[in-house]
Amino acid sequence: MARDPVCGMEVNERQARHSTQHEGETYFFCSESCKSRFESDPGAFVDARTQPLWESRKIAVVGTGQVGATFAFALMTSGVASNIVLIDRTRERAEGHVMDLNHGLSFVQPVNIRAGGYEECRGADIVVVTAGAAQKPGETRLDLVRKNTAIFKDIIPRIAEQEPGIILVVANPVDILTYVALKVSGYPMNRVIGSGTSLDTARFSYLLSRHCTVDPRNVHAYILGEHGDSEVAVWSQVDIAGVPLSDYCPLCGRDCSPEQKEGIFEQVKGAAYEIIHRKGYTNFAVALALVRIVSGILRNEHSVLTVSSLVDGYYGIRDVCLSIPVVLSLNGISRQIPIKLNDSEVSSLQGSAESLKSVLGEIDLG
Ligand SMILES: NC(=O)c1ccc[n+]([C@@H]2O[C@H](COP(=O)([O-])OP(=O)(O)OC[C@H]3O[C@@H](n4cnc5c(N)ncnc54)[C@H](O)[C@@H]3O)[C@@H](O)[C@H]2O)c1
Repeated sequence: MARDPVCGMEVNERQARHSTQHEGETYFFCSESCKSRFESDPGAFVDARTQPLWESRKIAVVGTGQVGATFAFALMTSGVASNIVLIDRTRERAEGHVMDLNHGLSFVQPVNIRAGGYEECRGADIVVVTAGAAQKPGETRLDLVRKNTAIFKDIIPRIAEQEPGIILVVANPVDILTYVALKVSGYPMNRVIGSGTSLDTARFSYLLSRHCTVDPRNVHAYILGEHGDSEVAVWSQVDIAGVPLSDYCPLCGRDCSPEQKEGIFEQVKGAAYEIIHRKGYTNFAVALALVRIVSGILRNEHSVLTVSSLVDGYYGIRDVCLSIPVVLSLNGISRQIPIKLNDSEVSSLQGSAESLKSVLGEIDLG
């Protein structure tokens, strides 16, 4: 595999349709647009992404409500970041969280935590965007689209102007807003990521682990597509410690009827509604999912997670952001994994993409 020197994506040299020569070396690109950018100024890209750009381990959090603040706390305790900057429309809220977090510094690894403005996104490895209106009881994620698109059209250019490494979108509807952030920022696709179904996949693993009485970390299961109503459970690929679910069921001896499986998936899909109905918001599990994504990137782990990114040609799906398993590294998305799906899963994933595209068709990206 070669690496596109502009966006960092892995490119299969034998199948690459875009390549060029520079100083005796052949460079391969994922797209014509990366190739043109390279050819306009090769010196800016040669070796650029192999430098240790990420030493500061600086994370900026835009939006310090329930999700942003809980993520900041989880990140602080993780020891992964050395600089955390909190940015909010209500500056006092960010400052209050900073004071409170700093009072705990005696108990964690050293980390610099401060409040700031958008200029603090400069030098950030990742800017995590949780700013936006939250989902209200009874409101679907897609109901939020217009409100949060307007917020994103205001804040994403201010973030992109500071040229942080990666923009990680969390605000809902996350797949739509990831697409908005990608278009408005002008960033290459590998550097704009949505938290997507990372949380739903964790919920699915947890519920399966309860059903199968094993540790959730021994469950391999994916939720793909939209983070929301049209998401898809990939039952055909669920495995428990390497054993396909259908082979594991007789070992476990518990009933695993289609109705039971449907019940588990309904609980995954309804989880946010159930939690919001009880406590008004969700914050803990999403914060941990974000720490997992951010750690995977900062540590260059090449971990496979289900996050949202631009999909262009996956099972015929084009020009929409949704979740599929991807490999995450310092460059953001370094590979999208073509997981094997059965016919019904393919058609559900395509349906999820269509549902997102119909929403994208209704918003003004200009
Ligand atoms: N992707 C996921 O898995 C997931 C999970 C939970 C919540 N969410 C989403 O995350 C978002 C935040 O949820 P929350 O519960 O923290 O909401 P919240 O209302 O508690 O916090 C939102 C914060 O954003 C700030 N904000 C709003 N507009 C801003 C702007 N223009 N610039 C800067 N800051 C701004 C607000 O001042 C507030 O502090 C929501 O869209 C919610 O639906 C996503």
